[in-house]
This record gives sequence, C-alpha cells and structure tokens, in this order.
Amino acid sequence: MTTALSDPLLRPSPDRLAADLRALEALTRPDRPYTRRAFSDEDRAARQWLAGRMAEARLVPTVDAAGNQIGRRAGRDAASALMVGSHLDTVEAGGRFDGIAGVLAGLEVARCLDAGGHRLRHPLEVVNFTCEEASDFGLSTIGSRAMSGKLDAATAAQLRNRDGRTLAEAIDSVGGRAADLGAARRAPGDPLRYLELHIEQSASLDRAQVPFGVVTAIAAPSRYRVEVRGRQDHAGGTPMGDRRDAAAAAAEVVLLVERVAREAGRGMVGTVGVVETRPNMVNVIPGEADLLVDFRGIEPEAIADTLARFESGTAAIGARRGVAIEWTSLMRDAPLTVSSDMVGMAEDAARAVGAPWRRLTSGASHDANHVARLCPIGLLFIPCRDGRSHCPEEWAEVEHLATGARVMLELLLRLDRDLA
Ligand code: GLV
Ligand code: MN
Ligand code: MN
Repeated sequence: MTTALSDPLLRPSPDRLAADLRALEALTRPDRPYTRRAFSDEDRAARQWLAGRMAEARLVPTVDAAGNQIGRRAGRDAASALMVGSHLDTVEAGGRFDGIAGVLAGLEVARCLDAGGHRLRHPLEVVNFTCEEASDFGLSTIGSRAMSGKLDAATAAQLRNRDGRTLAEAIDSVGGRAADLGAARRAPGDPLRYLELHIEQSASLDRAQVPFGVVTAIAAPSRYRVEVRGRQDHAGGTPMGDRRDAAAAAAEVVLLVERVAREAGRGMVGTVGVVETRPNMVNVIPGEADLLVDFRGIEPEAIADTLARFESGTAAIGARRGVAIEWTSLMRDAPLTVSSDMVGMAEDAARAVGAPWRRLTSGASHDANHVARLCPIGLLFIPCRDGRSHCPEEWAEVEHLATGARVMLELLLRLDRDLA
C-alpha cells in the first residue's frame, strides 16, 4: 500500500465530530427539526458557533461580502489557497448532515493539522457557504454563486421574498456586504483547488456497504416558476364543462413534469415541490395556481430535450383547458464533469488510507458546481442511510464521516505537496 502522508498527523476523531454534530443539531427551529434556513436566527447561531470552533482550531474567521464564512490558516510559502467546505443551512424539516458533514470535515482537518503542528505550503480556507439550499428569493447556492462571479449586487438588490425583503438585506443580516458583492468574487485559480465532502443523498454506497465515494459528475438544477391563471367561480353553481379551473390545470403540469423526466431517462429527474392555489377555499374553484418546478440531469442533451418538452407541454395544457400558463426560468445551472486528475487523486488518497471506495455521480447539486468555475474541484461522498436526505430521518454514521475526513486530509496533503 502507498504510504499515507497523513499518518504522522492526528486522525480525524469520530468523538469530536459527534460532539460537533450534536451541537449543530440543537441549533434548529424547535418546533420543526431540523430546520436552519439560511438568514434565520438559527443560521446566525450556527455561524456564531462555527466562528468559535474555527478560532479554537486557530483558523482566522472572516466573512466575505456574500456572507460566506471563511476560516483561514496561513501557508508556508505558496500564495493560493486550498479550500474545503460546504454549507450549514438546511431545507425545511431537513437533516443533520447535508452540508454540515462537509463543513465539519473541513474543521476537523484543520484541527488535525493544527494539533499535528503541520503547516501546509498553501493557505487553507475552511468555508461555510451562504444559503446553499433553495431560498425564498428564487435562488440557491448564493454564496458560491457570488464567489464565482455569477451573482452581482444589482441582482441581490432586486430579488425579493414574499415579505418584500431583498436578498441584499438578507446577505447583510449574516454579516455580508451586499452593496459590494463583487468583492466576494474570486479570480480563476483562487482557490487553487476546492474539496467538498458530502453525504451521498442517494442509496448506492449504503446498499453496497462501501464507506466512501469519489464523484465523477454532478447534476445541476433547472428551475421554473409556473403561473396558471384560470377563472375563479362557484364550486356548486358552475357546471363541469364551463370551468377554467387553475388547480386542475396545475395538476396536469405536475404530471407533465413527472412524464417528461421519466421518458427522458438518462438520469433525468423532475419535481414540483411547491403548489399553491388561490383563493384556497373548499367551495371556490381556484382562479390561480403557482408552482415551482425543479429538473436535474447530468447529460446536457437530456436536460435540453426535457426542458423543451416541458415548455411546449405547458402551452398545450393551457390551450386545451382555456387557462393561461406562463413559466419563468429561475435558474439553469450547468452540470459538471469532475476532472479525471481530481478523481484519480481522490482515489489515490482513499487507497493510501485504506478506505474502500467506488466512483459515482451526484444527483444533488453542490457549492462545488460553482466553485468549479474558479478551479478544479473534488467531491467526496460518504453513505447516508437508505439514501434518505432533505428529511428529518437523514442519517450518516460518524465513523463514515471520520473516514471521509481522513481521505480529505490525505488528499489535501497530496495536493499541497504536488501543486505549485
Ligand atoms: C441541494 O440540496 C440541492 O441539490 O437542491
Ligand atoms: Mn448540501
Ligand atoms: Mn440540500
């Protein structure tokens, strides 16, 4: 077996990681575990907690203009940083590991380097990215988007949630400086490499009982808002043939999403996660329905075909039912192929520390998709039970998290040694 560079250092500790997981698990909305939506009081509490842990690990904690929380450790002689990270925000009633695993693994790696007295040649940055999950502003991966130059101050000032709050105000509320959002933007090559450890969020590692995965490609979301406008009428007095029911048309849109994704094959998936009808009363035919639609895929052609079929399909439903259906594209992110160099180095690192692994793809999207505009990235997976995620039952074994952190530490040391 190749010698592991990480052997002289402290091993990532399941006990420390378990204590961190417990601390973060408590920072949830109490009535709806595990909810820590971006820009909420719970998010601010988690950030404060992390700043404390970063300082203990002798990382210098800062917050960039996008609100990304960055703990930095100086390097010995190289200028560009190696970055590791993920996110601490969750979906509504989400889990305790999605994103959290990656931030904690980064923190633990920094602790091992510190306790082992090992200074890397390159600076190390451990990042908690702002709002990776879907937000009320119609955008996700906000921090990594800003870091990679795909979100500007004008857009942040324009996007509003239902309460009329702007994304800019939300970013400022977690310590960012949205008016100067461009300052969060990094130049290509800064960071030099980015590593993100994450739970798989699908079941292949868990089923195969393999503790570690090296990701070769990452799917990307394309999202739409769909507005269905029919006619509000009396539920008793309006014969079935005279209705322009927005909810019935919306139901057809939901089934259209399912059908076009299923028929596309090639790993495409489609979801309607939000359906709202108005006036939402039992004795009133809904005049309006609003939907949020999410498609994911890895093959650009499959994505393009699916989106085209969806867009034309909504028009056909509207024409047949006599309702207006308008869609707005909210995001159309690009899927990512991980460089074979990074895949190979991650596999070498797994081999060196004796962790069995397999190659896989990611159906979920990640901050890594955006950081990839700046530098080669590595996405490292650990199993989660039954592949469940974005739900309170989400679970990963802390031993797997420690193994993942160990491979990440080894990979980091190899990158530090080999890169200029
Ligand atoms: C993030 O969890 C996403 O893939 O939506
Ligand atoms: Mn995540
Ligand atoms: Mn998520």
